[in-house]
Formats: sequence, structure tokens, C-alpha cells
Amino acid sequence: PSNGLARTPPMGWSSWNKFAEAIDDKTVREIADALVRSGLRDAGYVYVNIDDGWQGERGPDGVLHPNAKFPDMKALADYVHARGLKLGIYSSPGPKSCAGYAGSYGHVEQDARTWAEWGIDYLKYDLCSGEGFYHTAETVQAVYQQMGAALVAAGAATGRPIVYSLCEYGRFDVGAWGRDVGGNLWRTTGDIEDSYASMAAIGFDKNGVPHHTGPGGWNDPDMLEVGNGGMTTEEYRTHISLWAMMAAPLLMGNDARSMPRDTLALLGNAEVIAIDQDPLGRQGLPVRKQDGTEVWTRPLADGSVAVGLFNRTDKPMAMTADWPALGLGDHPSVRDLWAHRGVVSGAVHTVPAHGVVLLRATR
Ligand code: DGJ
Repeated sequence: PSNGLARTPPMGWSSWNKFAEAIDDKTVREIADALVRSGLRDAGYVYVNIDDGWQGERGPDGVLHPNAKFPDMKALADYVHARGLKLGIYSSPGPKSCAGYAGSYGHVEQDARTWAEWGIDYLKYDLCSGEGFYHTAETVQAVYQQMGAALVAAGAATGRPIVYSLCEYGRFDVGAWGRDVGGNLWRTTGDIEDSYASMAAIGFDKNGVPHHTGPGGWNDPDMLEVGNGGMTTEEYRTHISLWAMMAAPLLMGNDARSMPRDTLALLGNAEVIAIDQDPLGRQGLPVRKQDGTEVWTRPLADGSVAVGLFNRTDKPMAMTADWPALGLGDHPSVRDLWAHRGVVSGAVHTVPAHGVVLLRATR
């Protein structure tokens, strides 16, 4: 059953990569303001997602309350909504979340109703604890199915449908059944870290099964680390370019309140976002790998093709695109999406170490 959401990959911000358990109400509000002020909301980053660490105790009636860092979730949702943004939250199917807070075990429908009443727009459901009983494809699918159905029912009751993010690290071929349990995105890997090695290992090689991706359901190679300091600008450019080629969700993971100009330029590049958000929803693929370089292509709705020239080595490499082999004839019209200018189709590009040249070609 489709909730009709996520026709293109979800975009927004999530608390975990930068703040982990230190996230609180004040920070979420400040991030919401920063998304508006920076122009990133208008560029498409609309989900403000609270990850693990908001949960408090259950009352005698079983209702789950937030902890002291989140005095009033409904008021927080109102604040976020008033700024044209949406609010996301997090839970686990087991008795505990990964960080040891209350999970939804035994309270699935009740929790879905609680979130819907607060005005929540997005749930990330993270497979933690309960390993003893969630160790087969059947049991994992069943718990995700149960929450998927609960979210549809709760969202229908309040008229506010809820995006459903499955986080079980790509186990049991999740892409093959993620949609069937109501999922709009599903993680394909373990956690990303803020290093080139971690990002490249995921981005180049753990992109899920490409044909599972499409409008309404997306492979999720994890949140962005852009702006967190562990990679160079070139490496972060590769990070966001790969995610755009993969039609991945773009969930910022930095402190959006204080963004240097180059971070904003990486996250806010409208031409790159347009690749990620292309309505055809086809995931890009590597078509050639040679000497540590990779050429990736992604077909786009208007008949043009996005081409990524990636250099995984630690020295600059000369790269060209073989347009006839890509079906684009001898002289397509070509734009460089990071340089923001047209380039001659026969150009030889010097791709920086760990870097990328991202092109869009029209026959
Ligand atoms: C594991 C997930 O993969 C992370 O993204 C994050 O949600 C943490 N759990 C929170 O505990």
C-alpha cells in the first residue's frame, strides 16, 4: 500500500551524524531557522529529522513521552511546520533503540498514533535490540510491515501521511520487499563515517540493487557527512555527486546553523539537486572502471544523461566521456554542473584526486 509520498528521494536534515544524543528542542528549532535563512529549504531540504535520543518514559497508559530535552513535541512540530518544513522522528522495533532509549516493542500502533497526533511527518525505524527475535527475513519483514500499516492508519486519521524510512542496514535483500511493507526508503549499509574511505566504500560499492529504486521507494546509502570536517571539499563534492547519481535521499548531517560558504555551495547546487531529484527516478550506475577512475551515467526524464567522471586515486587523472558509446552521438551539448558552464563535448577533464567532474549531456 503506497502512502503516495517520496515521489523523488526525500531531502532534509537529520540530527545523528553531528549531534547524536546531544540533540534537543532548541537545536532543532535553530536548525529549522537555518534551513530557511540559508535558502536550503527552498532548494528542497524540507525534512527536519530527530534521530535517536528524544525518547523518555512511557506513562501508565503506555503512551511514550519525550525526554526532558524535548518539553513539547506538538509545539516543536508546529514551529517546524510554520516555517514550511516537516518534522521527522525515530524509533526501533525492539524494546530499546540503538542508543538504549525506549523502543516501540509492544506499542507499535500506540506510538504511531502518538506521533501522528504530534504532527510528525517521517519515521526512521532502526533495527536495534531484539536481535534474539529479529534474526530472520520473516521476522524482520513482519515488524516493518506492522509499523508500516500502523503509520498508514495513523496518518490517514490525522490527514498527515508519514514517510517511512527502514533502517535495517540492507539485510535480507530489503530492496526487494521494502515497498511492500510501506517503506519509502531503506538503508543499504551500516553507518557512514565522516571519512573519504567510509563514504567511498558506500558510495561506489554499496548502493543497493539499482532497479529497486524509483518513485516512492529509494535505496538509502545513509545520511550526508558534508560539512562535518573529515573530508576535503573535493571529497565532499564526490560524496554529494555520488548520492545524486544514485538517486539517494539527501539528508544533511551537519550543523546547519553555522555553514561556511563552500558547504552551502556543495549542498545547495541546484543543478546537482536536479539530478538527484530527477522525476524518472532511475539510479545511476558505473559503466566503466579503469585505473582507479569510474565513469557513471544516469538517464534523466528529459532524455539527457548525467555523467560522473570520478577519480578514486590520490593524484589528478585525465578523463573524457565517450559520448557515442553512451548513446549521445558525437557532439552532445554538455554542461559542467559544478563549474556551472557549458563545456565542449570533446574536452579532456583533469579530475582532482578523490574528486569528480559532473556533467549533463543532451543529444
Ligand atoms: C544506527 C543507525 O544506522 C544510525 O543512522 C543512527 O540512527 C543510530 N543507529 C542511532 O542510534
